[in-house]
Amino acid sequence: MMQTIIEPFRIKSVEPLRMTTEAERQAYLKAAKYNLFSLKSDDVLIDFLTDSGTSAMSTRQWAGIQMGDESYAGSPSFYRFEAALRELAPFKHIIPTHQGRAAEKILFSIVGGKGKIIPNNTHFDTTRANIEATTTEALDLVKKEGLDPQSDLPFKGDMDLDRLRELLQTRGDDIPLVMLTITNNSGGGQPVSMANIKATKALCEEFNKPLILDACRFAENAYFIKLREPGYADKSPKEIVQEIFSYADGMTMSAKKDALVNMGGWLAINDDELAMQARNVLILTEGFPTYGGLSGRDLDAMAIGLEEVVEEDYLSYRITSTAYLGNALEKIGIPIMKPVGGHAVYIDARAMLPHIAPQQYPGQSLAIEMYRLGGIRTCEIGTVMFGRQADGSEKAATMDLVRMAIPRRVYTQSHIDYCIECLAEVNANKHRLKGLKISWEPPMLRHFTAHFEPITTC
Ligand code: F0G
Repeated sequence: MMQTIIEPFRIKSVEPLRMTTEAERQAYLKAAKYNLFSLKSDDVLIDFLTDSGTSAMSTRQWAGIQMGDESYAGSPSFYRFEAALRELAPFKHIIPTHQGRAAEKILFSIVGGKGKIIPNNTHFDTTRANIEATTTEALDLVKKEGLDPQSDLPFKGDMDLDRLRELLQTRGDDIPLVMLTITNNSGGGQPVSMANIKATKALCEEFNKPLILDACRFAENAYFIKLREPGYADKSPKEIVQEIFSYADGMTMSAKKDALVNMGGWLAINDDELAMQARNVLILTEGFPTYGGLSGRDLDAMAIGLEEVVEEDYLSYRITSTAYLGNALEKIGIPIMKPVGGHAVYIDARAMLPHIAPQQYPGQSLAIEMYRLGGIRTCEIGTVMFGRQADGSEKAATMDLVRMAIPRRVYTQSHIDYCIECLAEVNANKHRLKGLKISWEPPMLRHFTAHFEPITTC
């Protein structure tokens, strides 16, 4: 059998990339005030800003777009989507939304409120923000190894069950539901084991709480279970996905990840009363329950994406190609978060650039250099994103990471090899990199719009 795992698709329609020179990129950086979110994406060669909504759709999905039915109510596109989802996750009520955070907003506006608390392994930013917007506390209970970039455990996304039990015992009345994010994006794209999902469900049952999965990357999580958890090697990804969802009472979903589409999401739940309330909010904010915030054609694309994402060849390519990038970086001496996650490689910029203090943003410095040298756009996840405190002061974040999030089915191995070469050069000259200061920032979510200035004297 051949050892090389190839991209399991060929290219039928191409999207040209625009080449730029270093001098041009230097000028773009200056104009963008050294904030990569402010770049025009035409000026980016390889875009690793996010894996969300950046997937390439298949010929079948594009054909499905043509079949989309735009009826306001009862569209066959909705029923095709509902059937495709039920094949994997047989929830009673399936409520489409325009993206993941809309599903979160609807759910938490119903169950949230003052004095309440919602635990998760790690809440993603929008999940946390939507919970906190209802004055509910969002609590992260990932097991402690999940916070250690060097720990090489297979399931670093697992919930700390002891702390969850203690919370359920002491604050049970204040907990409307328990969440589990698969894979754990904010913790490095690390998977949650089936044993942990099952045990979390058992705890929820003991305390009579629903378990809701934030399941954006459910297929990647399932494939890690197949590769790493005893007893699953001979199961198909689809069977594993079905088992995962059999332990849940509902899910929120950003279809922009593991439904392989550019826009979409949903909320799915078994509880009739909750579903009725959710549909009422949906009608106010998103649309009629058979289209949510989407066009009929989007629902068809999601239905087909859900079939394709659990194909073994696709998942094998997906997980192997992400690991290929991470392993190559490790080999050239770049510290990364281990083990490599499903959708992204996270570089430990604080460890790579120890001469830059966290308050001078080593992650931002590295991200800027990757763009300047190679036209590669990534995202700082560190002191720029989390360093500003509520009182306006500044504190180093727990980690200073740079995320290389890999769009699905978009880049080939030679694109990745180019990035590895670029990073080898960045690494060879890393002592020359300097920190930055923030010259302007908005009162919240500063990473999206802040202005930076390079510090020229250290
Ligand atoms: N939950 C998780 C775990 C996510 O990673 C995201 C989005 C969402 C919820 C929200 O979904 O964007 O459709 O509203 N993550 C993207 C990222 C933005 O870049 O990691 P959305």
